[in-house]
Amino acid sequence: MADTLFEVTEENLDTGMRGIPVGYCVTSFVDPQKGLHYCGMPLRDIAHLEPVEVIYLLYHGKIGTQEEITTFFADLTKRCCCSDLVVKQIYALPRVGHPMKLFSAALLILEMHEKTGNYRTDCLNVIAKLPHLVACIINHHAGWGETPKPNFALGYIAAFTEMLQAPEKGPAIEEAFKLFNILHYDHGGGNLSAFVGKTVASGLEDLFGSLSAGMCALAGPRHGSANQNTLEFVKEVYEEVGENPQSEAIEELIRKRLKNKQLVAGFGHAVLRVEDPRATVQYAFVKKNFPDHPLVKVALLLREAGPKVLKENPKIANPYPNVDAISGTLLTASGFPYPEYYTVLFGLSRCVGIAIQIVYERLEAREGKGTPIVRPKFFYKERG
Ligand code: MLT
Repeated sequence: MADTLFEVTEENLDTGMRGIPVGYCVTSFVDPQKGLHYCGMPLRDIAHLEPVEVIYLLYHGKIGTQEEITTFFADLTKRCCCSDLVVKQIYALPRVGHPMKLFSAALLILEMHEKTGNYRTDCLNVIAKLPHLVACIINHHAGWGETPKPNFALGYIAAFTEMLQAPEKGPAIEEAFKLFNILHYDHGGGNLSAFVGKTVASGLEDLFGSLSAGMCALAGPRHGSANQNTLEFVKEVYEEVGENPQSEAIEELIRKRLKNKQLVAGFGHAVLRVEDPRATVQYAFVKKNFPDHPLVKVALLLREAGPKVLKENPKIANPYPNVDAISGTLLTASGFPYPEYYTVLFGLSRCVGIAIQIVYERLEAREGKGTPIVRPKFFYKERG
């Protein structure tokens, strides 16, 4: 008889499937106490690596030798350019609304012109083309002009940074983008964008359509756009408490906001029960590089005050900072003060993890048969 892993009770219904196991993930897992692990390795052991080394780890399930990384990167380099037609059609998209809409649309344009239909080939192609694709989306949406071709000789993220035509790019931006990119590739199998992407792929939709759906999932404020909203929150706190805030003033502000049912952004997580290690790494980065930046000062005080005040409410399961608590502040302090594009940067990274998870589910799971179409059960209930 099969082992019982989880008994579903009525209490589990209508809770977003919290904690209910539904499958296997070969790229990463999130431990409530220890946080994110890529292929079994805790984040602290990976955060110093180059983006391509981490992508190699997620794609192959092991740390690559120098030679393996060089070969892998040479292969990505061959694939890294979107065609002129794809670029032209991205630049023909309307510049209205949030740039995440352009992201989803651009993935579908890429599908129309460059899909092979083989999940593995498309996965490598999309990972290689993402920096070019995303630079085009941002440059077009922001009105920053044409996008130069990717120069992968610089490196995966350095090429992306160079392609961005932002009028303001601080000296620390490349380091910040690299760290941000590595930290957001994957977050277990059940995060909404990965789950949606894999669910759409389970109907045998191709990789591009599945990623496009995943990016629609990422766009919501409870998921990827929380990084943009949390920066707005940090700015609002700064406006209220001023240049040299005291922790008591921040604590009072949080209490007042909670009482008035206003947003206190950047705390809590569906799985984690400690400070998100992705936040811990970023706090260390801003403390080292920008200790005097006014928003950094506020974010660091919020890191202490938030849990203290939120713990006063026993109903709050996780009062600790999550990845979004500091990522927007980090990008701003590092010299990319364009919050509208922070979720797009999240997507540039997250598409990597989703694509690799889709390859597993479509081509490797169940001895290569792949997982079946996702089809959970819902109980019929009369509205009353
Ligand atoms: C993520 O990185 O996807 C978020 O932390 C949300 C999640 O893990 O569910």
